[in-house]
Amino acid sequence: MDIKIVPLPTDKMKTKIADQSKLGFGKYFTDRMLIVEWKADQGWCDARIEPYAPFMLDPSCTVFHYAQEIFEGLKAYKWADGHIALFRPEMNARRFNQSGDRICMPAIPEELFLDGIKKLVALEQDWIPTADGTSLYIRPAMIAVEPVLGVHPSNHYYFFVILSPVGAYYAAGFNPINIMVEDHYVRAVPGGTGEAKTGGNYASSLKAGLEAKTKGYDQVLWLDGRERRYIEEVGAMNMFFAYGSHIVTAPLSGSILSGVTRDSVLKLAPTLGYTIEERQIDVNDLMADIRTGKVTEAFGSGTAAVITPVGKLCYKEESLQLTGGKVGEITQHLYDTLTGIQTGKLKDEFGWVEFIEQA
Ligand code: COI
Repeated sequence: MDIKIVPLPTDKMKTKIADQSKLGFGKYFTDRMLIVEWKADQGWCDARIEPYAPFMLDPSCTVFHYAQEIFEGLKAYKWADGHIALFRPEMNARRFNQSGDRICMPAIPEELFLDGIKKLVALEQDWIPTADGTSLYIRPAMIAVEPVLGVHPSNHYYFFVILSPVGAYYAAGFNPINIMVEDHYVRAVPGGTGEAKTGGNYASSLKAGLEAKTKGYDQVLWLDGRERRYIEEVGAMNMFFAYGSHIVTAPLSGSILSGVTRDSVLKLAPTLGYTIEERQIDVNDLMADIRTGKVTEAFGSGTAAVITPVGKLCYKEESLQLTGGKVGEITQHLYDTLTGIQTGKLKDEFGWVEFIEQA
């Protein structure tokens, strides 16, 4: 499909943040965005890249009332040799459509998803930050925009992509965060929408997150919704626990997100001399193993969070420190290797990197 490029008036061009150490996460947006519409009687249509601007939407749109919305997150990197690289973008395209299927949204052809992102990033390449730990975060999303209050799948959707130059997701940067295991609220249940990247999952996590914050924790770690016993995920990350050089993570149960970074860690770790196991992790066993020093490190993985070390884990009234509250060796090794591949400092043995053609 042809993507129309609407001219960007020079007076609409924003000033870029000069100090890349101040970027934070998702606070600044580039000059342009991509929009493609889907209409029941036309299918995908009207693809355009236009100046970044607010949407004008009818207050009755399905997305506002029934949360028919999905999104993705991936990143673009500018290499020292000038290449612009995406990391495994086809995984995001696939997962986007899996999420959409769960809440009855039309599948977008993967080619259109990828081509649209590449064209937008190529146009906005001057926005890609290059300081260590920075990248251009790409946020594709789809919303239901039919103006009607009946509860049924919408007849009209906007697929759109916005771009944000970012640094670390957590304010602490690449430093250990504190996590509280949530034993009251649940994020997802078997048969629910936990596996889909849909906004409602994140809305329903906010209350637990705020309560954890008042107790001094950065994030909550969700337990399974049936028994509140098995480790699932942290909203923005999948979780890993190192028992020496053996790394354990929860299986894809259907109620956690199938993380692209999770999958990359599972493939990368064995090549770095670690063993990997996907298995159910009973929170009581985990706490006992931290207490007795069997668990030597914990870290989270995610596109925004990359690899994030965990310094403290709290469950019920017990709070345990990990790795002396410092960044563990394995965590650092995986972070360095993964970001090394993404930024072109290390060889990509896996074929994960995809370059964007530049005009
Ligand atoms: C990502 O890692 O890209 C995510 O979508 C997590 C998000 C909630 C920041």
